[in-house]
Amino acid sequence: MFNAPLLKTINDVNTPYYYYDTKVLVDTLNALNKASVSKNYHVHYAMKANSNIPILNLIKEHNIGIDCVSGNELTLALKEGFEASKIAFAGVGKTDDEINLAIEHDILSINCESIQEIQVINELAQLQNKVANISIRINPDLDAGTHPNITTGTQLNKFGISVETLDLAIDICKDLRHVNLNGIHFHIGSQIRSEMPYVQLCKKVNTIVKSLLSKGVNLDVVNLGGGLGINYNDPDSEMIPNFENFFSIFSDNLSLPKNISVHFELGRSIVGQCGSLITKTLFTKGNDLKQFVIVDAGMTELMRPALYNSFHKIQNLSSTKPAKMYEVVGPICETTDTFDKQVLLPETVRGDFLVIRSVGAYGEVMASNYNLRVKPLAYYSLN
Ligand code: LLP
Repeated sequence: MFNAPLLKTINDVNTPYYYYDTKVLVDTLNALNKASVSKNYHVHYAMKANSNIPILNLIKEHNIGIDCVSGNELTLALKEGFEASKIAFAGVGKTDDEINLAIEHDILSINCESIQEIQVINELAQLQNKVANISIRINPDLDAGTHPNITTGTQLNKFGISVETLDLAIDICKDLRHVNLNGIHFHIGSQIRSEMPYVQLCKKVNTIVKSLLSKGVNLDVVNLGGGLGINYNDPDSEMIPNFENFFSIFSDNLSLPKNISVHFELGRSIVGQCGSLITKTLFTKGNDLKQFVIVDAGMTELMRPALYNSFHKIQNLSSTKPAKMYEVVGPICETTDTFDKQVLLPETVRGDFLVIRSVGAYGEVMASNYNLRVKPLAYYSLN
């Protein structure tokens, strides 16, 4: 439920702002740990979803590792005390500086996305007189059926090394003395709400692992990425994703030797539901076709609706009048700066506070300064 006591303080802070319910986050982390520890699965938090320090700290306290995708994320993870042995580093275009940083800190794995990248890591590790732990990110050519802008696992996407090129990559690794290929990595997409793509992934992983072991590759780590979706339509009915169910898909369908550790990189499912965006109604206006509610948050604070046409539940925190149909839009000079074209809200007037729900993941991190706007502040519940 959206935390009602916030209404008492709402007039004291400038909107728009992000509000994080840390109880929801802690409950989510406890559920995640309960479900993963029993299966001996290792979880890395995909910090691209939200890199706010209080959130990272709560995640670290729950003994979860990190998945990062830039040198700055890696630096922040190390600064906040995440153990290097629990950090995976992905990304299709890592710079030499970023690779050097990862090698220097002996992280769990640099997830490599091309043969050229493996060769560059080898050269850079040689200069540091080190051996870098690497995983190969395999593109399983599998369509997870999510929004095309967040699908990653098909051959049309830029990510990973194709199954056809894998043998060549392994042969090359065998000749390189400064990389230690000890894992494979997959990530098929995001906001996945059905089991089938994961079942298909497991089947592909079983075949690939068997083949790699028969070729003498020493596999310690199989990293299956993230992607577990959340309930955007009705967040209150599912504030905590069903992690038990998610991990069961893998324990039911993976058949791997016991010495291989299974890892996941979950982002959205960990932080998505704990975050809300609070915004104030600036103006209302209407014509014969529609009624607009113009709020002070825009695509600069929450880009997901403009970028992916994604749905976020909107509620009016100030009014209990009879409902009317509205189009809720932001102040930015772009037609796509629209949060929802058809939302039933209690009759809304200038000054009413609205909450945009389920924005803990890929909300604040994707905010921009477009139109010279100032990035929103974040507030946390005191639990
Ligand atoms: N691992 C890798 C390699 C990834 O690329 C991602 C997300 C994750 C893990 C975490 O995925 P999650 O569990 O959060 O689905 N901005 C988009 C989502 C982009 C996801 C990018 N990769 C959105 O707002 O929906």
